[in-house]
Amino acid sequence: METKLNQDSPKDGKNLSASAPSGSDLFQKIVSHAKEYGFVFQSSDIYDGLQAVYDYGSNGVELKNNLRYLWWQAMTRLQDNIVGIDAAIFMHPTVWKASGHVDSFNDPMIDNKDSKKRYRADQIIEEKIREYALSGQKDAEKSLQEGLDKALEKDDLNALRGLIEDHKILCPISKTCNWTDVRQFNLMFSTQIGSLADDSSTVYLRPETAQGIFVNFLNVQKTARMKVPFGIAQTGKAFRNEVVARQFIMRMREFEQMEMQFFVRPGTQAEWYEYWKEKRMNWHLALGTPASKLRFHKHVKLAHYADAAADIEFEFPIGFKEVEGIHSRTDFDLKQHEAFTRKKLRYQDPELNQSYVPYVIETSIGLDRLFLLTLCNAYTETEGADADGGAKTRTFLDLHPALAPIKLAIFPLIKKEPLQELGMKIFDDLKFDFKVFYEEQAAIGKRYTRQDLIGTPFCATVDFESLEDQCVTLRYRNTTEQKRVPIAALRDIVQKEISVSDILKKI
Ligand code: GAP
Repeated sequence: METKLNQDSPKDGKNLSASAPSGSDLFQKIVSHAKEYGFVFQSSDIYDGLQAVYDYGSNGVELKNNLRYLWWQAMTRLQDNIVGIDAAIFMHPTVWKASGHVDSFNDPMIDNKDSKKRYRADQIIEEKIREYALSGQKDAEKSLQEGLDKALEKDDLNALRGLIEDHKILCPISKTCNWTDVRQFNLMFSTQIGSLADDSSTVYLRPETAQGIFVNFLNVQKTARMKVPFGIAQTGKAFRNEVVARQFIMRMREFEQMEMQFFVRPGTQAEWYEYWKEKRMNWHLALGTPASKLRFHKHVKLAHYADAAADIEFEFPIGFKEVEGIHSRTDFDLKQHEAFTRKKLRYQDPELNQSYVPYVIETSIGLDRLFLLTLCNAYTETEGADADGGAKTRTFLDLHPALAPIKLAIFPLIKKEPLQELGMKIFDDLKFDFKVFYEEQAAIGKRYTRQDLIGTPFCATVDFESLEDQCVTLRYRNTTEQKRVPIAALRDIVQKEISVSDILKKI
């Protein structure tokens, strides 16, 4: 019986089995899987690691590149009015003053005086709301949620502190309610540029990639001869000094964003906001994420630059979490850069014969969170019987072939010539078309299992018969079905399955 542990979706119509692990156990399994099979490692592991910083391994980098590629294709190649850029991480420090990040890019933090641990005040309140919900205390849940929404809307730090006291929220370490006041904590990392360490040489590691797009708005509009409405897309690293960094690659201090700023006529932003919300949701669905695991979450507390905002959330095994934000950023950023530089950032609209500062709709997705979503969606355990009739669990990653790190593994049945030579010949022939992997060590079953665990959709085994009939045994990952196919047909079979066009056409 196949049990897709993490999916109870209409996609496969299967429910969690009675023996399925709880959400956090399943999440831990996926985290361990990612580490064990070369997807993600803790940074500086041999020095006991650096908290909330991660490295991608040999399989992780391939999966990450594939996800980035699919986003890039959907946002640039498929759109006749969006172009890409690659801006630097360091920017003039005044950019961050103008954007509001120096003054407003803060999280409300609270310290427990006994454990000396620091927490995000809003997050420990949210935990309490969840606790009320799980224990069926509906009134307490509603009143705390309303209190939190109100306090966040007004940026009222004392009210946050009041809620923590009134609801007797305890520190999970010390189990006491002995809290400090709630204080704002800026999330930007700073460093010095050049050899002189004074205030004038302070630069920031960008906390979002978007500002590189805003400051290049006119450069791109003029050189690419873009007409409003048009967009600029970019992928790249962003840095935030997250105080509470946990849940693996969900909240990192160094992460990657894929952002697109769409410049529109003032007054049309509401329509475009709805357009991009739908478009981005369709992109997630086209990649195979079940609709039942995705939802929008409308922001109550808007960022300093937005007049509307919603998140696309995915149901991870530990609950619904934000993966992408769609923000109506008004003309805030461009106007601020005009004010701070005293340079005009206007568009001369030839149809209206008017000059204006465009409004902006932003789509912003975290590549690392998308990566985690993909792993959670793909992680599958099936129950079967071993040779003695006992229960046996088979684990594999049900990755779309377009996303799989390796597309085809080639195995000589035994480590002997001339099977090795024929195996290498197939490898050399196909390596120009897609990522192929050759292995001759270990029993064939073990080699299949290793590929299942990293999501390789196809394995081709070369045996002595292959020398005669020029065919291989092709094994399909999900079904484990095996078919005899001509070596000459391998390229087409694999290429058809890994095609990204089929995904992109669904958007
Ligand atoms: N330019 C708008 C912006 O940066 P955001 O909602 O702060 O908006 C966008 O971030 C996306 O970046 C989030 O939806 C999330 O996927 C990702 N992200 C934000 N902080 C992150 C962190 N500390 N670690 C990993 N991903 C993060």
